[in-house]
Amino acid sequence: MKLSGRIAIVTGAGGGLGRSHALLLARLGASVVVNDMNEEAARKVADEIIAAGSEAIAFAASVTDEAKVAEMVAQAMGRWGRIDILVNNAGILRDKSFAKMSIEDFRQVVDVHLMGAVVCSKAAWEIMREQRYGRIVMTTSSSGLYGNFGQSNYGAAKMALVGLMQTLSIEGEKYGIRVNCLAPTAATAMTDGLLAPEALAELLPERVSNGLLALAGEEAPTRAILCAGAGHFAAANVTLTEGVQIANDDSAPEAVVAAWPQIRDRAGEMVPAYGFTQLEREVASATAQNAGRTAHG
Ligand SMILES: NC(=O)c1ccc[n+]([C@@H]2O[C@H](COP(=O)([O-])OP(=O)(O)OC[C@H]3O[C@@H](n4cnc5c(N)ncnc54)[C@H](O)[C@@H]3O)[C@@H](O)[C@H]2O)c1
Repeated sequence: MKLSGRIAIVTGAGGGLGRSHALLLARLGASVVVNDMNEEAARKVADEIIAAGSEAIAFAASVTDEAKVAEMVAQAMGRWGRIDILVNNAGILRDKSFAKMSIEDFRQVVDVHLMGAVVCSKAAWEIMREQRYGRIVMTTSSSGLYGNFGQSNYGAAKMALVGLMQTLSIEGEKYGIRVNCLAPTAATAMTDGLLAPEALAELLPERVSNGLLALAGEEAPTRAILCAGAGHFAAANVTLTEGVQIANDDSAPEAVVAAWPQIRDRAGEMVPAYGFTQLEREVASATAQNAGRTAHG
């Protein structure tokens, strides 16, 4: 079994995608901490895993509660002595158009998705660094990557998780910690009433969970965004176009407007290895322009 001996925490695993992630990880040999706010739901999933012959602990806590999350991690360490995989999956919706959304609804969604993932990742981080092994999966969403009406809070929180992944993957690299994102589509309580009946049969949560081994297994990449639903798997990227260099003179603002098609032209676009790639290229381009100007007198 691909994950035998591995210890995993799955947040929000009392139902929906979290439950199917937990069941899959256990089926692949991992021992699993089944976290959820809903104690009974978490216990049921842990019991299901145990009944199928694997090890599991149910732990009821909000992912935003630092003390409880620390207790959960301590319990996993006490029982198994390591934490190899963390799937930050817990989440909520408070959909409204931005015009009607309260700041409280915005904060709450950011708190659960972003800060919940931060709290859980932070609690496991030092352990993973010391082990020189870790796999963290952030649950992003097409709403964050591309936007959806009525989901400004959710989209902002979900895209923030991509940003968190980008930096944690860089900081974790030399410690064997790999961090990736999953953008799922599945019929769950969260999507209840939102999906067409004919889509429901295809959008089984387990078809998303099938992508989890690729993101959290031994050979996982780092900094990948896997979009998964109905058995379809694709990768999303944050890209940078080749761009243009504009001279710093009085006509520069108009020149940027005129160059817009070229600025957006996707031929030759790249996925920067890290944020400073942008700066390095900008300075190199300006330097080349200056050298050209000097060469031409
Ligand atoms: N279902 C989809 O199509 C879809 C699409 C994009 C992203 N997602 C994301 O996938 C994840 C799982 O969603 P789902 O569709 O299974 O939803 P779901 O509502 O079925 O499950 C979410 C689970 O998280 C738990 N939870 C909520 N707040 C919590 C907290 N503070 N602490 C701990 N547990 C908490 C809930 O009790 C629930 O069991 C979420 O992050 C969601 O945003 C889902």
